[in-house]
Amino acid sequence: MTGTTAEGEEASPRRITITFATSGVIATAEAGSSLLRVSIREKGGIPWKCGGGVCGTCRCRIEAGREHADRIKPKERQHLSEEELAQGFRMACQTFVAGDVTVSWVPRATSPDGRVKAG
Ligand code: FES
Repeated sequence: MTGTTAEGEEASPRRITITFATSGVIATAEAGSSLLRVSIREKGGIPWKCGGGVCGTCRCRIEAGREHADRIKPKERQHLSEEELAQGFRMACQTFVAGDVTVSWVPRATSPDGRVKAG
């Protein structure tokens, strides 16, 4: 194999592995994926409500591979202290990962896709 692709075709995006430690789900995704989107698609189980950085529900901790997460967004700083950020806490809906990561969170009652039930 030479690594070339068919004419006019882009090389396929690099695949990464996301380990959802709290649920035990291991998923593959394209590099640069949103942590929450992969969790919803693959039933990883990270709790969420708004998906837009507002509610703070998707708080999680990157246990391994923190260096593969993108920069911390201003919306995350509204929910997480500097100390928590230093410990690897992030908001899953605001975090995109470019390499293998392991993520954990505090379990909550959710729908199968991880959305937190009302109440
Ligand atoms: S789901 Fe609401 S802040 Fe991420």
